[in-house]
Order: sequence, then structure tokens, then C-alpha cells
Amino acid sequence: MAVRALWFERGTLHLIDQRLLPLRLKVLHLRRLGDVADAIRSMAVRGAPAIGVAAAYGMALGAAEGRWTPDRAAAALRGTRPTAVDLFVGIEAVRAEWAAGNDPVAAAEAYRELVVGECRRVGEVGAPLFRGGPKVLTHCNAGALATVEWGTALAPLRVAHERGSDLFVWVDETRPLLQGSRLTAWELGQERIRHAVIADNAAGHYMRAGEVDSVIVGADRIARNGDFANKIGTYEKAVVARENGIPFFVAAPWSTFDAERADGRAIPVEERSPGEVLRFGGVRAAPRSSTARNPAFDVTPARYVRAFVTPDGLVRPRDLPTRLRARASRRKRPASKIP
Ligand code: MRU
Repeated sequence: MAVRALWFERGTLHLIDQRLLPLRLKVLHLRRLGDVADAIRSMAVRGAPAIGVAAAYGMALGAAEGRWTPDRAAAALRGTRPTAVDLFVGIEAVRAEWAAGNDPVAAAEAYRELVVGECRRVGEVGAPLFRGGPKVLTHCNAGALATVEWGTALAPLRVAHERGSDLFVWVDETRPLLQGSRLTAWELGQERIRHAVIADNAAGHYMRAGEVDSVIVGADRIARNGDFANKIGTYEKAVVARENGIPFFVAAPWSTFDAERADGRAIPVEERSPGEVLRFGGVRAAPRSSTARNPAFDVTPARYVRAFVTPDGLVRPRDLPTRLRARASRRKRPASKIP
């Protein structure tokens, strides 16, 4: 794999500081739970599966510090970001093992293995959708940086490209923090996948012009009925794709599915600092007297989704409740711990 968002060695979590890419490739070395919480909150590490894995290691670091209980450590990390359910799943994976007297580092390693393996399978499952060199549009960054390795939306594109598909990717810049132009374009460049960055507002123009064959995005939380949260702007892209008869896919590991939420109305949407909207590249981009609103995510209704690309195959939204019930009856997840 060309890109790895984070790794754990000798009691230290190393992670790429995603705030600085693509201009600087800097690695942060974190040894305390509080440092990991800060990195998640400030988005040095971001993307739903990646913050789940970072938080899992944060729990392991907390255990080594000796001043946290499993429950207090979990509470500190849960307070960092509200929308991506993976965060809570990763924390719980380690909390339960630690509370049972098992090795928290081993639990965090096992959680990372699970997520990376599922993302690789998402790539295998989704790759056939992108045979024959299509033009694909994606929003935000759902690559290795967002998932530790492989990606969700980018994993099928990466595998299709490896298998010889000369595909082309339209990369939405993704205001206000530019995860598309800074991170997705950087990852595609590493893989030599053809792409062009477009202003978020240009996506509809290219869809209407017949320049987009399909859309694929990741997700931060997928409710039982298939409504899903993803980076702000995703909803608009889904609606315009439907208007133009373009298939819209959502790729995710199982940690992103939240069977406890009946539909999208139950998904908490993070609102971040107005400063992220009022400044651009550190420079004020609105009058001093202006205020701003800054929802980090929006919720797209399930009816816009052609299929979820999961580790175990394509799943239509109407089949999702049954699939999630079947999974829950196989492995009991402690729902009460997942906010
Ligand atoms: O605010 P971010 O950058 O953490 O938001 C990330 C996204 O919205 C991604 O699209 C999502 O996590 C899917 S990533 C595999």
C-alpha cells in the first residue's frame, strides 16, 4: 500500500498530520490519550474508519498511562466528534477488552486489522463497477487517509485501476476544509490515477454534460434504513446524480453501519467552528462583521443510493435492514455504549 494514515509502534501512535497535506508530509508521534483526542478533534486525523482506529489506539495509550479507567478513557474520546459511528465502535472494541482484563494494545491491533481487511474487501467488491475506464465523481476524502489503508470510495477505484481500468476521477474540492483537493487528489496522484479537481459547485455542470458515469462516496454513519451522513455537500450531489440518471454508490466497512438508528433523522450532525468557513487558507474571506454556519455533514436519504458497497457484496438500501439484523444476530454488539 502506498499510503498509510497511521501506525502503532513501541507504545507510540504515529499518524500523518492531514491538516498539512499536500504541502507538508509530517508525522505526529502521540503517547497519551489526550494527544489522540486532540488529534481527532482538530482533524489531524479524520475520516470515519481512521478516527475509529485512532481512538482504539488512544484507549490503549490511556491504559498504559495508568490514570484512566476504561469508562473514563472511553468518555474522553467519545466527546471528540459526534457523527462518525466508527469512532464509538473503535472505542468500545478496546473498552470492553480492557474492562475484562485483556490487553488493550492487542484489542486495538485487532480492531485495526478488522477495519483494514474490510476496506480491502470493499475494494474487491466494488472494482467491477469501474471496469472499462469510466468517469467517476467523488466527494471529500474516502481514501487510505480516511481509513488507515485502502479507503472506502477510493478502494474500488484503486483496485479497478490496478486491474487495468483507465478510469478518470472528478474530485470535488470539498469546502470548507478541502479534503478533496488536498487529500483525495494527493492520494490519486500517488497511485497515478487520472483526475481533475473541480469546485464543489461544478459537479452538477459535468453531470448534466454527460461527463460523469457514476458517483461513489464514503459515509460517516449509515442508519438502518440506508439514510446516511457524509461530508457536507453529499446530499446535493446525490440529488443531482438522480436528476441526471447517474448511479450513486456508498462504500463502507461494517463499522460505519449503525443498526441502532432507524433513519437519518437520528444521526447527529457535527457543527464546527464558523472560522473554517470565514477564512480560506488562513486568510479572512468574509467581512469582519459576518458570521457563518458550518455543518460538517449532511444526511442523504436512502432512495438516492443505488447500492452500498460493503465488505460482503453490494447491498441495495431495501435489503439493508435484513442484512443488519442477520449480522446482529451473529455478533452481539453492546448497543448501549454507542451514542
Ligand atoms: O470531516 P471529515 O474529513 O472527517 O469527514 C470525512 C468524510 O465525510 C468521509 O467522506 C467519510 O468519513 C467517509 S471516509 C471513509
